[in-house]
Amino acid sequence: MERSITAFSFALLASLTSALVLVVQAQPGFISIDCGAPNDYTDENTNMTYKVDDGFIGSGKNMSISGLIYQSNLRCTNLRFFPDGLRNCYTLRPDQGKNGKYLIRALFCYGNYDGKNQAPLFDLYIDVNYWATVGASSAIVEEIIYVPKADDIRVCLVKTGNGVPFISALELRALDDDVYPLESGFLQLSTRINLGQTSVVNWFRYRDDVYDRMWTPWHFPNWSTLNTTVAIDLSNDSNAYKVSRDVLQTAQGTMSSSSPLYLQWTTDAQPTNDATSLPGAPPKIWIVYLHFMEIERLSGPQREFTISMNDNQFAETVSLEYLKPVVVVSRPVKWPVITLSINSMNKSGNPPILNAMEIYNVVDLPNVPTAHDDVKAINDIKATYHIKRESWQGDPCVPSDYTWDGLNCSHGNPPRIISLKLNSSNLMGHIVPSLSHLSTIEYLDLSNNQLTGAIPKTLAELPHLSFLLTGNVHLCLADPCPRKKKQETILVTVTSVSSFCGALFSALAIIWLIKWKQTCSKTSEAFEQMPESSERTPRLKNRPFEYGEVSKITGNFGQVIGKGGFGNVYLGTLDNGTMVAVKMLSESSKQGYKEFQAEAQLLAILHHGNLVSLFGYCDDSKHMALVYEYMANGNLRQHLSEDHPKILTWSKRRQIAVDAAQGLDYLHNGCKPPIIHRDLKTSNILLNEDFQAKLADFGLSRAFASENDSHVSTRPAGTFGYLGPEFQSSGNRDKKSDVYSFGIVLFELITGQPAVMRSQDGCDFIHILEWLIPIIESGDIHRIMDPRLQGKFNINSAWKVVEIAMSCTQPRAIQRPDINHVLAELRESLVSKSSGSFEVTSSEIHCDSVPMAR
Ligand SMILES: *[C@@H]1O[C@H](CO)[C@@H](O)[C@H](O)[C@H]1NC(C)=O
Ligand SMILES: *[C@@H]1O[C@H](CO)[C@@H](O)[C@H](O)[C@H]1NC(C)=O
Ligand SMILES: *[C@@H]1O[C@H](CO)[C@@H](O)[C@H](O)[C@H]1NC(C)=O
Ligand SMILES: *[C@@H]1O[C@H](CO)[C@@H](O)[C@H](O)[C@H]1NC(C)=O
Ligand SMILES: *[C@@H]1O[C@H](CO)[C@@H](O)[C@H](O)[C@H]1NC(C)=O
Ligand SMILES: *[C@@H]1O[C@H](CO)[C@@H](O)[C@H](O)[C@H]1NC(C)=O
Ligand SMILES: *[C@@H]1O[C@H](CO)[C@@H](O)[C@H](O)[C@H]1NC(C)=O
Ligand SMILES: *[C@@H]1O[C@H](CO)[C@@H](O)[C@H](O)[C@H]1NC(C)=O
Ligand SMILES: *[C@@H]1O[C@H](CO)[C@@H](O)[C@H](O)[C@H]1NC(C)=O
Ligand SMILES: *[C@@H]1O[C@H](CO)[C@@H](O)[C@H](O)[C@H]1NC(C)=O
Repeated sequence: MERSITAFSFALLASLTSALVLVVQAQPGFISIDCGAPNDYTDENTNMTYKVDDGFIGSGKNMSISGLIYQSNLRCTNLRFFPDGLRNCYTLRPDQGKNGKYLIRALFCYGNYDGKNQAPLFDLYIDVNYWATVGASSAIVEEIIYVPKADDIRVCLVKTGNGVPFISALELRALDDDVYPLESGFLQLSTRINLGQTSVVNWFRYRDDVYDRMWTPWHFPNWSTLNTTVAIDLSNDSNAYKVSRDVLQTAQGTMSSSSPLYLQWTTDAQPTNDATSLPGAPPKIWIVYLHFMEIERLSGPQREFTISMNDNQFAETVSLEYLKPVVVVSRPVKWPVITLSINSMNKSGNPPILNAMEIYNVVDLPNVPTAHDDVKAINDIKATYHIKRESWQGDPCVPSDYTWDGLNCSHGNPPRIISLKLNSSNLMGHIVPSLSHLSTIEYLDLSNNQLTGAIPKTLAELPHLSFLLTGNVHLCLADPCPRKKKQETILVTVTSVSSFCGALFSALAIIWLIKWKQTCSKTSEAFEQMPESSERTPRLKNRPFEYGEVSKITGNFGQVIGKGGFGNVYLGTLDNGTMVAVKMLSESSKQGYKEFQAEAQLLAILHHGNLVSLFGYCDDSKHMALVYEYMANGNLRQHLSEDHPKILTWSKRRQIAVDAAQGLDYLHNGCKPPIIHRDLKTSNILLNEDFQAKLADFGLSRAFASENDSHVSTRPAGTFGYLGPEFQSSGNRDKKSDVYSFGIVLFELITGQPAVMRSQDGCDFIHILEWLIPIIESGDIHRIMDPRLQGKFNINSAWKVVEIAMSCTQPRAIQRPDINHVLAELRESLVSKSSGSFEVTSSEIHCDSVPMAR
């Protein structure tokens, strides 16, 4: 609750104009801020050093108030007010940090600074929790005893629609650990009185009081007043409360030992800004501190009395000794009305006395602040990029009404930052490492900034990040970035490619990095290579391999079975006899690292019988290896080539088509958002010993485009021959581009020809469609069928597949079907027409299944 200073008499001292400017060391453990003051100064009454508030807050406007309101060593000459923003926060950074215990005091002197003669009403928060409502008085002090959960303490002023918040002074004093014990919540000062002090101007605080508690002079008229002028030596005093000797030197007692010292107060008497007057607020919990010291030299027996609160909710017996302070701390008592009575135990002895008293409410801290690491990271980001947004003050997530603009948070305990939009925020320089410390982030938008340098590996590795949008011309994926000159070369290369394929490249400017967490559905197919795990982090689903183990598996890299973009692929055998393919990243191709990692991460969470699966990976600082299931029959392109000894039957080809379509359907429709393969081709379709087809090398080209020139020209562009015409004009790849590539794969299965084939005279290269469309249009399907099939195919099903392939390769993307439609058609042709391993040439042709020549 507040203590209204107007309840006491004010001294208006207009003569004190300018403060003494002394360079004096601030008191240890103290932070004293004079809000809106023009300069630091030392207060001549207390010798405390006050600072201007620049270093503690970045918002608001300063104002000096005319007519100095000066009471009990409170200085009200300036204030800061906050016309902008819903919440404005001061940040206090005491040396002792979190787990220290602090007295925090805020002073509000309205002083009609705005000429409206109407003090505003607003809320005060301590960190993420409600502290008090401030208003309706010309000078108010709010004070609490608080143990923060973080090193930074934030005092926030929150608009509630009743005027502009303001503040005059903010003070923090470090307390000893063993005073004012707190089990939970914080202590909110209700009253702190110094009994027997008859002069209303004698407000004691620092230096009289080491903790700078402010003691209100208090005098009950019909009680006796005691005082002493004996020099009290408290240096031997073992109690840590260290109440000022000036406070203990006076006391009040009843007139006779038979009358108890009796006090009563109620919550109803509190002003409207009291939390209990809010609807539904629970009754307050009170803790009372009673300070005693015998200041009379008694000849007879010493004072002894019983203390009782609310009919013995709390009771204790106390005996006093001359000049020995005693502190009695009540148990928390809960009642709308509190009664305190102190009874002398000897009815013919000395009456009870009381030297000083403090009354506190125990206030809950219901809101849990955002996870400390997130708070630190986002504040680093804010500071590094000089982000100035009205709402970016105080805790980033809590309370949820004041969550920072551009941020979304989980509501767990503690709340975490899960999404961050920093697009078009004029960010410059490198990507700060702090971004990678937002370890639960799922969505990050950094587009439309002027960021430069490499995207840190740690950022790309964040386990939950599923969407990262950067759109910064000078960002690159390789670390270190190529030098400027080199980058220009790359752009030149790209331009020359563009002249060939159309305008390829916004791709370098806009990099979509998409990692897939558990967004892909589990397939119903029985094929599940990866053991199930409850881990949320996809990477951990794969077994990590030691380099030594990789070496052992591969028989010291004995048998090369292929060459990947970044190194060799070796044959290996696991302990249990399972054959594997081990793809090594050669040490010379560092730039492939991210691509490698991306592949590992993507594969780790994709589970489908028609996608090549990953057993594990090795990633120590020197070596990176991916351990795949071994695909005994190599890739589809090899099997279709003329010189391959084995010939795939028409039936097998159709099954391979269905397998590949299933894999692609899973990527497109089983994952949200869909995964675009981007480089579907017959050499990326692998066959296991049962000729089951599985897709490999998907989803990576755009996401992890390498800066390496040779790759810029191939990877992001896909492979020539498999690219739809729209790609050549716009550079965009979507599901329909994959469908186009799939159509080309179907034509390769039908014809055995590669996507780019030799022209008939053998001198030129032509696209497969250029060759076959005129033939199909002529209706002579036999002329395009792979001669190695030797006519062993079902003409009807061949037409069906040709028809499907035609629809997939429509020049306009919009005319192409979705892969799930393609899959359904292929399956239908398989189910209805398949007759075991034999292919029949004669068949029941339905006329309407003959495709229209286009
Ligand atoms: C303030 O400090 C000055 C110089 O150190 C000293 O002379 C003076 O007594 C101090 N005043 C108080 C109130 O402590
Ligand atoms: C606000 O502070 C600045 C800098 O200290 C000062 O120049 C200006 O006069 C102050 N404004 C008011 C209204 O006090
Ligand atoms: C103080 O005196 C007044 C009138 O003399 C009386 O009504 C009141 O009860 C007394 N208070 C105490 C605490 O003795
Ligand atoms: C202490 O008592 C004496 C006499 O009883 C009185 O003159 C003096 O003002 C009192 N001092 C205080 C601080 O009340
Ligand atoms: C404080 O302690 C010292 C030495 O321990 C002693 O001489 C002195 O009398 C004590 N003072 C009081 C007030 O107890
Ligand atoms: C009570 O106080 C009287 C007067 O001071 C004294 O004579 C008597 O011994 C005390 N009784 C007890 C039990 O302390
Ligand atoms: C936060 O969530 C809301 C509602 O789901 C959404 O509209 C908003 O775009 C999200 N903001 C960010 C920064 O992701
Ligand atoms: C960021 O992008 C969102 C759309 O995703 C847009 O609504 C918002 O205005 C953008 N922010 C800035 C600062 O441009
Ligand atoms: C062999 O080990 C791998 C990896 O631990 C496992 O996925 C696979 O199922 C095992 N194969 C057999 C036949 O036990
Ligand atoms: C680019 O990649 C190719 C083939 O992987 C390699 O030969 C070449 O050295 C690389 N260039 C750079 C600059 O890394």
